[in-house]
Amino acid sequence: MSLGRLPPVGTRVRATGGGSLPEFPGFSSFYLQSGTAALAQAMLCAKSLVGDTKRASVVLPAYGCPDLVAAALFAGLKPLLIDIQPQDPAYDLDALSKVLASGEVCAVVAVNFLGIKENMLELRRLTQAAGTLLIEDSAQWFPEDYLATASLADFVLTSFGRGKPLNLLGGGLLLVPESRLSQLPELERFKPGSERAGTPSLSYKVKAGVFNQLLSPLVFGLASRLPFLGVGSTRFHALDSVEQVSPDKLSCMPSNLGAYLSQSRWREQTLCSGLQGLPGLIDLAQTLRYRKGRLLRYPVLTETQNQFAALPGASTMYQRPLVDIEGVPEALTQAGASEQAACPGAREFASHFCSLPLHEGVTAEILEGMLAQAKQIPVGTAVA
Ligand SMILES: Cc1ncc(COP(=O)(O)O)c(C=O)c1O
Repeated sequence: MSLGRLPPVGTRVRATGGGSLPEFPGFSSFYLQSGTAALAQAMLCAKSLVGDTKRASVVLPAYGCPDLVAAALFAGLKPLLIDIQPQDPAYDLDALSKVLASGEVCAVVAVNFLGIKENMLELRRLTQAAGTLLIEDSAQWFPEDYLATASLADFVLTSFGRGKPLNLLGGGLLLVPESRLSQLPELERFKPGSERAGTPSLSYKVKAGVFNQLLSPLVFGLASRLPFLGVGSTRFHALDSVEQVSPDKLSCMPSNLGAYLSQSRWREQTLCSGLQGLPGLIDLAQTLRYRKGRLLRYPVLTETQNQFAALPGASTMYQRPLVDIEGVPEALTQAGASEQAACPGAREFASHFCSLPLHEGVTAEILEGMLAQAKQIPVGTAVA
């Protein structure tokens, strides 16, 4: 199968204004310039609410996106990278309990990994007992469940970046419990004004048009060779400020949300039945199905790191623990947080993890070809 036929990750952006913004019962919505900004603002709110300078740390998973560290540094909190489980992206609860007992933790970040929730009940219990706040980072999953039922977390955020479930060419949403608003006057400056009912500007329409063109496999293939686009690189980028999202993106949110929620999940089902019984494979969508929502990518663990890497659109994601990602060690040193505990679980997970594509444009034919190819790879082989 030719890679050239596979469109790049990302959903087509609809540059259509109008419609109402979603309501999340019990929560107020704050639309910011990125998911990182939303996470940083959640941490700042946690700091204000906890109001104890001894609680100056924030717990992050030892396997994850470097933007987690950027948000912590912006919020002036010391990142504590806590191990995950070797076959589950969720926290090692013993390691988490130990660090919570120190009395130095202000907040714990619970990451929803590609549509798989953290162990939210356990985290709620542990954080409540420790007097710590719980932030659900749902950048990789649009929190559609919370349109009907409340999250167990104190704060929830999502991202509207390229390659995220709901793509607006950037942006983020922070959900804050209405009951906490009076204690958080700093959020006043982010309250949306009348711009939400507007139509997107011509420049946004042009940008969206260009982006949609880039989703063509041929155009993307050429663009991804341009180093300044930074396509596919994972590295640390500091966060400089927290701003409101642009009115253009806000006005297009309802139309893009409608399109997103109406998408069928047939690709997940095709991969789920096609991968069944494949030797040497742990299908995380199956083993963690009780915590699974709509998936952004299909998560599996293979016997060797690169076993599935040659499949069309496959990604080994971060490939290493957070502490080894380019730019992170320097950022941790700067924050006085260079002493991090060993993270054998994250190392093990990172060296076996692979995700398969589910995005728009991945056809049934592509998925069938991918499954046929996967079945021919001998177990334990690293295919170049
Ligand atoms: C778990 C997680 N949190 C936060 C972010 C940051 O989101 P944004 O790219 O919108 O800043 C990402 C981005 O990939 C992410 O994966």
